Amino acid sequence: MPLRSLADLQPGMVLAADAESPDGNHRLTSGTSLTETHIRMLRGWHLREIEVEAPHQPQDASTDAPEDAAQAVLSRFVHLPGDNPFVIELRRQALARADTRVPPKACRPAHRKPDAPAGVPAPEKILTGDPVLVSLPEVFMRIREVLSDPSSTIEEAAAVIGKDPSLTAKLLKLVNSAFYARTLRVSGSLPPASVDTLTRAVMLLGLNQLSTLAMGVSVLPLFRDIPADCVDLRQFWQHSIGVGLVAKILSARLGDPSPERYFVAGLLHDIGRLVLYKRIPDVSGEALARAAESGRHLVVVERETFGFDHATLGGMLLRKWRFPESLEQTVWRHHDPMAADVPLEPAIINVADMVAVATLAGGSGERLIPEFIPEAWRLAAISPPDLPEIVAMAESHLEVVCAMFA
Ligand SMILES: [Fe+2]
Ligand SMILES: [Fe+2]
Repeated sequence: MPLRSLADLQPGMVLAADAESPDGNHRLTSGTSLTETHIRMLRGWHLREIEVEAPHQPQDASTDAPEDAAQAVLSRFVHLPGDNPFVIELRRQALARADTRVPPKACRPAHRKPDAPAGVPAPEKILTGDPVLVSLPEVFMRIREVLSDPSSTIEEAAAVIGKDPSLTAKLLKLVNSAFYARTLRVSGSLPPASVDTLTRAVMLLGLNQLSTLAMGVSVLPLFRDIPADCVDLRQFWQHSIGVGLVAKILSARLGDPSPERYFVAGLLHDIGRLVLYKRIPDVSGEALARAAESGRHLVVVERETFGFDHATLGGMLLRKWRFPESLEQTVWRHHDPMAADVPLEPAIINVADMVAVATLAGGSGERLIPEFIPEAWRLAAISPPDLPEIVAMAESHLEVVCAMFA
C-alpha cells in the first residue's frame, strides 16, 4: 500500500492501516474513507506519512477501475462512516462498477438564477397550481374506485385496467418478466409459466397489489414536460425503477406477502423532485447547483431553499391522489424512516435508495450517497455479504424493466 505524506491527502482516500494519535487516545481504523475533518485531525497528530489504499488497485480484483473513475466514486462516499462493514461493502460494489457507471454530472442548469430562492410557493400551491397534476388519468381514478370498494371482484379490476391498452401491456410485460419469476421464487411463491391476461395477473398478485402497481405506472406519463437541464428523465426513471427493484428484492427476502407496494414505493419515492423540477425549475436549478458546489446532500439543500423537501412534497402528492396511506407515508419518510409510525417500509426504501445511488445506473439529482441510517439497515435484515447478490440481481434486470416503461 502506498505511503502518503499528510500534505498529499485528499477527501475520499481510504486508510490502508490504522492511524493513531501520538498519545494513543485517538485512532482512525483501516478502511476509513477520509473526510476533510479526518485530514485536519491527522495533520494535528503531526504524523509524517500514513498508508492509504491505491484507488486503482482495490483489495477486490473486480474493483479494478481507472483512478479518475475510482476517485469520482470515492468522492460520493466521503461523508459516510468509512469503517462500517455495510459502507465498506457498498463502496466495494460501487468501485467494481466505477469504470462503467458514470456518476450523475453536477447540474449547471440554464435555469439557474443566483438570487432565485425568494418567493418559493407553499407546497400545497405547487401541487394545486398544475392542471396536469390535478386531473389524473381516467384509468387511475377508475382503479382507485375499484380499490376503495371492498365488494370489487378480480374481473372488475381487470376490466378497468384493460381499458388502457398501453398500461395493460406494461403490466403484463412486468408480471411476465424474469425479475418477477425470480422474486416470486425468493418469496416462496411458485412463478407461473406465463401470465397472458389481466385476470390471471390479478389472481397471481392479488387485487390490491396489481391495482397499486397499475396506479403507480399510470402516473408516470404526467411528467413528460420537465426541463432537460434540470433532470434527465431517462436517468430519473432508471433510478426510480432501480430503487423499486432493490426494495422488492429486500421485501421478498423478508417474506413480505405484498412486495408490489415496495416496487411502487421505489418507483415513486423521489416523485416530489419531478414536481419541483416541473413547477419551479428556476429555484430547483439553484438548489441543484448549490448542492453540487457545497458538496452537501441535495435533500438538505432543498430544505434550506424551499422550506420543505421532495419527500414531503411527494408524500403530499400521493395523499392528494389518494394512494394507499402506507405508500404515502413511505414516500414521505424515505429519508427519515425511523420517524415514521411504521418504519419498516420507509426503511426498506431508504436502504434501497442508498444501494441504487451507489451501484445502479440513473439518478434523480443527488450526487452523494444518501446518509447511512443503521436502524434502517437492521430492519432490512441483511448483512454485508448479502449485498453483492442483491446488487447483481437488481442490476441484471434493470435495463429490461426500464425498457418496459419506455
Ligand atoms: Fe429521495
Ligand atoms: Fe432516490
